[in-house]
Amino acid sequence: LPDPDVVALQDEDVADLLPRPAPESDKYRRGVVGIAAGSHLFTGAAVLAVGGAVRGGAGMVRYLGPEEPIGLVRARWPEAVTTIDDPAKVGRVQAWVVGPGLGTGEESHRIAAALLKSDVPALIDADGITLASRDRALLRRTAPTLITPHAGELSRLLGVPRERIEARRLEHARRAAEELGVTVLLKGSTTLIAEVDRPVRVNPTGTPWLATGGTGDVLSGLAGALLAGGLSCYDAASAAAYLHGLAARRAATGAPAGLPYGESPISAEDVIARLPE
Ligand code: APR
Ligand code: MG
Repeated sequence: LPDPDVVALQDEDVADLLPRPAPESDKYRRGVVGIAAGSHLFTGAAVLAVGGAVRGGAGMVRYLGPEEPIGLVRARWPEAVTTIDDPAKVGRVQAWVVGPGLGTGEESHRIAAALLKSDVPALIDADGITLASRDRALLRRTAPTLITPHAGELSRLLGVPRERIEARRLEHARRAAEELGVTVLLKGSTTLIAEVDRPVRVNPTGTPWLATGGTGDVLSGLAGALLAGGLSCYDAASAAAYLHGLAARRAATGAPAGLPYGESPISAEDVIARLPE
């Protein structure tokens, strides 16, 4: 039987959600997103998350991280304003993205804790989720919080074996939203968006070609840009999943002209390139 508490996202729903700049807009009013991602070891996550935000329509992107990823972010995304390591030195942002490639050591925890104390909406992904599974206090925030786990990350957070989550994804997405008091975007072959007292949204876009390293980091940057643009966690997660999947499909099929052999592999950077469309 159809579950009335589960809805599929439609083109029109998403189109209505997207922020468009008004004639008198400026970059601050359009939304400044802060991104704390990447580390000495994982520099790529920083570049990809910043790219998702820049191409996802942020008014401005502020990047916080160590020297190595900063060098790469500056080279690839000169649009971003960068700050080395010190959360107190980053200017005002309207939303934070915390976690992709951040690392899980003491220093990473210190930075995540400082940023998550802020009173703006925050998206927590990847290593940020791993940190939160060891220190649940990171999730007790004064502002709305969106987490974007894959099944393995949700498994760590809930202390439930990954296989059980994979077998009952809807149930566990709902349960996480209830128990943790956050909005949940559960990634995988089908992406679900869960929030207390709302129907679970199912994302119909996407392609199995998305199963490649780094695409999750792009999604985080994109959703962060939408959060900074004023969307709620529920709507930012929904629109981001939808557009990310659509961009990936276009990249994989060469749409609108089409590829001679139907489909081809994509990289996370290919998804970024198609986001503005
Ligand atoms: N079909 C459709 N979409 C898929 C499929 C599939 N079979 N598999 C994955 N995806 C999508 C997910 O929904 C998500 O949007 O690809 C993206 C993958 O995101 P992540 O799982 O976060 O993977 P990735 O970005 O590569 O993460 C890089 O961060 O989360 C950690 O452990 C992860 O070390 C890895 C790093
Ligand atoms: Mg990931």
